[in-house]
Amino acid sequence: MMASEASQRITEACLASFADAPDARGKEIAQALVRHLHAFTLEIEPTREEWGKAIEFLTRVGHTCVGARQEFILLSDVLGVSMLVETMNEGDDEGATESTVLGPFYVDEPPHAAQGADLTAGLIARGESMLVDVTVEDTSGNPVSGATVDIWQCAPDGLYDVQRDLPQGEYELRARFTSDSEGKVTCRSIMPIPYQVPSDGPVGDLLAATSRHPWRPAHVHFRIVAEGYETLTTHLFPNGDPYLESDVVFGVKPSLVIDFDDAGVAGSGEGAESRVLRHRFALQSAS
Ligand code: BEZ
Ligand code: FE
Repeated sequence: MMASEASQRITEACLASFADAPDARGKEIAQALVRHLHAFTLEIEPTREEWGKAIEFLTRVGHTCVGARQEFILLSDVLGVSMLVETMNEGDDEGATESTVLGPFYVDEPPHAAQGADLTAGLIARGESMLVDVTVEDTSGNPVSGATVDIWQCAPDGLYDVQRDLPQGEYELRARFTSDSEGKVTCRSIMPIPYQVPSDGPVGDLLAATSRHPWRPAHVHFRIVAEGYETLTTHLFPNGDPYLESDVVFGVKPSLVIDFDDAGVAGSGEGAESRVLRHRFALQSAS
C-alpha cells in the first residue's frame, strides 16, 4: 500500500517527536524504529483485530518470562535476530573461530572443574561416551593458557540442567575450566543429541502456526574468555545431524560443523569413549 498523505503526516510527526533526543545514538535508533515499524505496518495493512492479536502475543511473551525462562530471547532467536546481532558484532580477524548464539541456558558462574573432569556425574540417562579435547589458541596458532572455558550441553532427554528442578548449586553437563599451559581443556562427556527449544509458550505457538519445527541440531556450547582477546561464544555441531540445514534459531555456520570421532584416540586405549570432540579454537585479539 502506498503511504497516504495522512499516514505520511503521522510518520513525520512521530519522527519529529524524537528530534530533540539528547543522546544521538538513542535518537538514531528511535527514528529508525519508527521508520521501519511504520513501513511494516503500511505493508501488512493489519485490521484492528490483527493488531490487537499482535499486542496480545507480545503480552504473552512478556508474561512467559519467569525465572530461567526468557521468552523474548527465544522470540529473537527464532526470528533470526539473535544470530544477526551475534554475526554483525563478530570481529573479522582472518582465521578466528566463528561465533554463534549464547542461548537461554547459559549460567554465569558454573562450577569450576579440573582438567579431565567427568561432566556426566549424576546423570540418570547416560548417552554415548565422548572425550572433549579442545585447545585455545590465538589466530597465529600460539596457545592461550589461563583462558576461562565454559562448556555446557543438554542431557539425553533433550533438557538442560537449568530446565529441571535440581537442588540449588547442582548442575549437569556443565562446567568452567581453565586452559593449561598448552591452551588445552579436556573432559569427559556424552555425545550431544538434537533437542527442541521450549515450545509450550507463545513462541511455540508461533512456530506451530507457521509449520516450523522447534528442533536444534545436536551441539556442545563453549564460551571462552581470555585477557587480551575478544570473548568467543560458540558451539560445535556433529557432522551428519539431520537438523543442520534447518536449525530453528539459525545458529549453524559451516565452520562449526565437525566430525565427533577420532579413530586414533578411540582405539588408543585412552578411555572407553567411542566419540571424541577435538577442536582448536582461535581467539581474535581484543580491539
Ligand atoms: C541453545 O542452544 O541452548 C538455545 C539457543 C537458542 C534458543 C534455545 C536454545
Ligand atoms: Fe543448546
